[in-house]
Amino acid sequence: MTKLVIAIDGPAAAGKGTLARKLAEAFGLPHLDTGLTYRATAKALLDAGKPLDDEAVAADMAARIDLAGLDRNILSAHQIGEAASKIAAMPSVRRSLVEAQRRFADNGDGAVLDGRDIGTVVCPDAAVKLYVTADAQVRARRRYDEIIARGEAADFSAILADVQRRDERDMGRKDSPLRPADDAHLLDTSKMGIEAAFQAAIAYIHARL
Ligand code: C5P
Repeated sequence: MTKLVIAIDGPAAAGKGTLARKLAEAFGLPHLDTGLTYRATAKALLDAGKPLDDEAVAADMAARIDLAGLDRNILSAHQIGEAASKIAAMPSVRRSLVEAQRRFADNGDGAVLDGRDIGTVVCPDAAVKLYVTADAQVRARRRYDEIIARGEAADFSAILADVQRRDERDMGRKDSPLRPADDAHLLDTSKMGIEAAFQAAIAYIHARL
């Protein structure tokens, strides 16, 4: 069997994580949510009381992250996401995490990786590249609905401002900015449920293989 690497990129709350999990299951491949590697590094720094603006300290922490121990439940806090997006702008943090992510992708029959720079930097030779996006309003609404469904209080305009700030930071940084790879297939989920996005992705992948 030839190796199948599926690279999925896109902004926060576009649906790429759910899509990545479903595709990994459908193709029997391991899945890595690379956002968790940045989140785990950020959490380790916060827990240790270390500064978030010292690149050498952050890179040292990034080098110790164990991909096997990543758990979104522990890493989902808003404060961790914010800190992750700050340290993700540091080239030596990225170098260390990208190396671990590439090792994951190179192992076995293939893998599904999702993040911000998978098709452009981590796996530029991936057989399949998807760029999953949606309007900022729609993404903020999804976040809002998730929080309300948990029975917590939420402020839509604060969430929207947050989504926009994160987009600016991820798209505007010098090292590995978020953008679609030239050969990525675009999936706009603004008006599409996750099942429709999954079916569209499956059809695209089968047409490519
Ligand atoms: O996807 P998630 O929100 O968990 O990612 C947290 C942060 O990690 C993002 O805002 C982004 O700054 C960073 N990240 C990245 N490159 C990736 C994955 C995530 O820069 N491949």
